[in-house]
Amino acid sequence: MAEWAGRRVLVTGASSGIGAGLAEEFARRGAMVGICARRPDRLQEVLRRCQTHSPDSRMWVTDLAVPSAVDALATAALSEFVNVSSIAATLSSPGESAYDASKAALTAFSEAMAVDLWDTGVKVLVVYPGLVDTELFSLPDNDPVLNAPVLPIPVSELVGAVFDALDSNAAQVYVPSWFGDVAAQKAGDVAAFLAGTAAFVAGQTAQAGGPSGS
Ligand SMILES: NC(=O)c1ccc[n+]([C@@H]2O[C@H](COP(=O)([O-])OP(=O)(O)OC[C@H]3O[C@@H](n4cnc5c(N)ncnc54)[C@H](OP(=O)(O)O)[C@@H]3O)[C@@H](O)[C@H]2O)c1
Repeated sequence: MAEWAGRRVLVTGASSGIGAGLAEEFARRGAMVGICARRPDRLQEVLRRCQTHSPDSRMWVTDLAVPSAVDALATAALSEFVNVSSIAATLSSPGESAYDASKAALTAFSEAMAVDLWDTGVKVLVVYPGLVDTELFSLPDNDPVLNAPVLPIPVSELVGAVFDALDSNAAQVYVPSWFGDVAAQKAGDVAAFLAGTAAFVAGQTAQAGGPSGS
């Protein structure tokens, strides 16, 4: 099992959801956690929880859409990257092409970085969450999502799977794991997978009363 006590971990997007859950678990395992996001009140609350386990943990209120803010954070010395991609990167979720593309780019970036850093000892883990119960889906300006027959998992399940993957030096982890089987199946016959997805979307559209009824 990986030893986190005394190590320094930077968690971005840590004021809620997956980032907050990972930050608290790193702190519980003894790491000194640095957390960042834009909402100071929410970040402060996560920091308070981290500091109950790891008192030297600290926070930065940062908007990572601002390049100078990213430069400042990137100066931290790291030994492991955990990049949260999405099943959207490999399954190309319909109606979310820009999101899918951004996550596919993150995956390619992460895998290339893993190879570039191979001899430095810095490792890279790519996480592919399916549906996780966070605030992500209630953010303003979200497009309506498809009514997929998948129940969201709690953040704690995602966090547990990430630490199992870190412990086993995995390069990637799908959570729940069966999404990895779906991705492998898709890779075996992309045309059939896309046809099945299109049929699913058509069924959803029909249920909603056609293209203008949603
Ligand atoms: N939930 C899912 O089902 C799911 C599935 C697949 C992948 N993911 C991925 O998991 C990651 C975390 O999502 P989540 O579900 O945990 O959502 P979340 O609860 O909304 O968390 C998003 C975090 O990112 C921070 N953030 C957003 N924009 C930022 C910016 N410009 N600068 C700094 N921080 C910023 C937010 O904090 P502030 O608003 O305070 O800045 C918040 O802490 C995302 O990359 C998402 O795409 C989620």
